[in-house]
Amino acid sequence: MNDPRRGNPRPVHISVIGTGYLGATHAAALASWGHQVVGIDTDPERVELLAAGKTPFHEPRFPELLRQGVEAGNLTFDTDVRSAAEAEVHFLAVGTPQRAGSHAADLSALHAAADAMAPLLERPCLVVGKSTVPVGTAQDLRARLCSQAPAGEQVRLAWNPEFLREGHAVEDSLHPDRIVLGVESDEDDQTLRDVYAPIIADGVPVVRTDLPTAELAKVSANVMLAARISLVNLLAEVCEVTNADVSDLSRILGLDARIGDRFLNPGVGFGGGCLPKDTRAFVARAEELGLAGPVAVLRDVDALNMRQRARTIDLAADLLGGRPDGARIAVLGAAFKAGSDDVRDSPALDVAVTLRARGAHVRIYDPRAGANARKAAPSLQVVTSVEEALADADVVLVLTDWEEFAGLDPVALIDLVRTPRVIDGRLVLDPDKWRAAGWELRALGRGAA
Ligand SMILES: NC(=O)c1ccc[n+]([C@@H]2O[C@H](COP(=O)([O-])OP(=O)(O)OC[C@H]3O[C@@H](n4cnc5c(N)ncnc54)[C@H](O)[C@@H]3O)[C@@H](O)[C@H]2O)c1
Repeated sequence: MNDPRRGNPRPVHISVIGTGYLGATHAAALASWGHQVVGIDTDPERVELLAAGKTPFHEPRFPELLRQGVEAGNLTFDTDVRSAAEAEVHFLAVGTPQRAGSHAADLSALHAAADAMAPLLERPCLVVGKSTVPVGTAQDLRARLCSQAPAGEQVRLAWNPEFLREGHAVEDSLHPDRIVLGVESDEDDQTLRDVYAPIIADGVPVVRTDLPTAELAKVSANVMLAARISLVNLLAEVCEVTNADVSDLSRILGLDARIGDRFLNPGVGFGGGCLPKDTRAFVARAEELGLAGPVAVLRDVDALNMRQRARTIDLAADLLGGRPDGARIAVLGAAFKAGSDDVRDSPALDVAVTLRARGAHVRIYDPRAGANARKAAPSLQVVTSVEEALADADVVLVLTDWEEFAGLDPVALIDLVRTPRVIDGRLVLDPDKWRAAGWELRALGRGAA
């Protein structure tokens, strides 16, 4: 962990509005740098847990960081936004999910947070957007805040997008690749440099820019990553029909320094609370801006991604002789990726729920996301071990890239299942080892070999 007060010239009184995966981690990181931080959330259960130093979600290293701030007394949580009134800097970190019935972002939580806090802003302060939003949101938000705040135009607005990855959120908060400051004055720039002083002193690059560029930064990064994954999945499909080896191909691509080897794994596709909805929101916003033609390529990126889920279901059905109904299916993984308990738009859960809807008996196991899976998908039988999931299974699907699954022993597991068939939806299993143990192993991007 960082030494809390190292290199911090000026402790700042800060509020963080919205303490989900992003806001809670951000608040704890800020407190670790010696700032006085209050986290505000409308969810009383979440606030009660955080205030007691307990984590409402799974995130490696977060429990220690949270406890450190709560015990030191400079990290508090409240449901009452009035506790934020005295802060000099307010970070907005509420959710911006996909709007129901549309691809656009739902900004209602952001608007509600702004409307709740504006009447309390009696003194000059800086409101800093951290949520991922469509370009143009900051301008509207500033008007909304200034028109309602007693301090009027003395309420300043900045945008400071967050790039943390779930599963690495603490590491990414304490050692980010870059800090983007979308600001409109030197004073606001300096305030945010004071906030990030300890990590700026560590050499983290800072990019100062304008508000629209800062708003675009995060969504653009996600659109690039989404396109990259869908392209790799497209290559995997070509490998499949040509009997080429997709693992070798992605290794070869990754050794090209211009391409790089990260985020190059083919499989069941991307999910989670960011990539899918940010890609769609980007398309929706670009269409509003008159760019429907060029942005169509991103619709294809989304469609290619969703196709991976459909192809995984088809592969399972194929292995079951075309009929999943009545079959016993073991799904390993519910989280959208390893290291997280987040099941929002999780490909694993989506595949499991669809197979269940087609009449299969699905048992699903995840090392961390069982409780969230149970809440999000009550039709599934959520179990607490790999062995329980595999008992009498007709086919096993590995759909989240947990280390625990990569290390499974195919010899020890083969006697548990009714038929030894496995679909590796994340290319985490060693195909030679599993086949040698007697399993029929299939994977997107690999032939039946
Ligand atoms: N999760 C990530 O990895 C990540 C990374 C970068 C950026 N982001 C962006 O950060 C934002 C938040 O994402 P998240 O994953 O933390 O979402 P989340 O759903 O986990 O958390 C949002 C929190 O905001 C609270 N909230 C809603 N309305 C509120 C209000 N009016 N006042 C106070 N609190 C309110 C909710 O109760 C919830 O706890 C989104 O825009 C997301 O795109 C997320």
